[in-house]
Amino acid sequence: MNHTVAGSPQLRGSITPPPDKSIAQRSAIFGLLHEGTSVIKNYSPAQDPQSALKGVQQLGARVEEINGELRLTGVGRNKLITPLQELDCGNSGTAMRLLSGVIAGSGLSVRLVGDASLTGRTMKRIIDPLEAMGAHILARNSTHPPLHIDGARRVQAVRIELPIPSAQLKSCILLAGLFGEEPTTVLEPVPSRDHTERLLQLSISEEGGIRAIQSSREDGIPAQSYTIPSDFSAAAFWLVAGSIHPDAELLLPGTGLNPTRSALLTVLKEMGADITIENEQLEGAEPVGDLYVRSSALKGIEIPESIIPNCIDELPIISVAACFAEGSTVIRGAGELRHKETDRIMAIAHLLNAAGVRFEEFDDGLIIHGDPEFSFHSATFQSFHDHRIAMAAAVLSLMGKKESTIRDAESAAVSYPGFWEDLKGISH
Ligand code: S3P
Repeated sequence: MNHTVAGSPQLRGSITPPPDKSIAQRSAIFGLLHEGTSVIKNYSPAQDPQSALKGVQQLGARVEEINGELRLTGVGRNKLITPLQELDCGNSGTAMRLLSGVIAGSGLSVRLVGDASLTGRTMKRIIDPLEAMGAHILARNSTHPPLHIDGARRVQAVRIELPIPSAQLKSCILLAGLFGEEPTTVLEPVPSRDHTERLLQLSISEEGGIRAIQSSREDGIPAQSYTIPSDFSAAAFWLVAGSIHPDAELLLPGTGLNPTRSALLTVLKEMGADITIENEQLEGAEPVGDLYVRSSALKGIEIPESIIPNCIDELPIISVAACFAEGSTVIRGAGELRHKETDRIMAIAHLLNAAGVRFEEFDDGLIIHGDPEFSFHSATFQSFHDHRIAMAAAVLSLMGKKESTIRDAESAAVSYPGFWEDLKGISH
């Protein structure tokens, strides 16, 4: 399905972004491992969290929806059941990698599949450590889904320094580690999103300046009873739209502000954005707050490589912001972008070309030459069936003189089913 978006003279209003996709999927998976009932408020209707929810039900969780709350009754680590059918993770790398950790630790024998995009993504990064922990894994070409995992009979504890700053890899290893007698240690030289260690209350220490996170059978699994915050990565589209548009004022209430996720705020503020935060508070283990954004004049910056993992999902929309900034914006050290739902460096390059923006492409990023006076007539943007590319294209289209087209726009529903209605709601 294609969507058309016309330039809008004014952006005004309040948007509640959808529930956080990373936290929602974890609440379901950790709820499965808790022996008892978790009451999860504001679970996400988006496709990825729904794939995770279906998966945990196949592994034994009972789920009831009462007055919009999920009551998820988990079976604990020892009573997981072998699903009758394969687990379909759809588009979700998080579901596939985290559920693989659970299955590898549990001793079950399970097949995991995904859609065309997920089937094209390498799982080698999780296969190697899970095999070191005692699981046997069959994969297409030894690296790609479908995966057939024969879980470890007895989990071998490991001590692994992450070769890439990936929260999915970190979480996968720690989840398998929860089934081992001895502690498994993950060393994380570059911090990635920390929802897993927060929500499972895992022990964290520092070894020579490097974060070390441990898990073992000794760790109790807490009930996952909390309200899922609004997704910062979804709010990101409106933070950029509000910053680059010449007449904008937007409010994003109750948005997740976990510092390992919100480096976009640092980036935008450094670029000169007008963003304020009010009502900061803790929602369970996660910080949330109300975000206000107003039109501003942006300047290009060099994004420090050390914060790339903390804005990795926001790099497509940061690229859109860069088009309207004075000077160049440098995004390097972001090679992981090539392994997302699509090769996002390639997809961003297509987006920028379609609008006529000047840029250079590298293996590990882009340099975008912005111009505050930049404008384009209209364009046809390819989403490559990637939700974040579709939404980034929509925000760019808001700045066009005439109507632009976003191809395969339905992919936004992977993380943000109400995106197109919200876009209409603020365009005046
Ligand atoms: C996620 C981690 C990140 C991120 C993805 C969600 C998670 O992936 O890009 O959208 O929920 O742990 P990587 O772990 O591959 O960096």
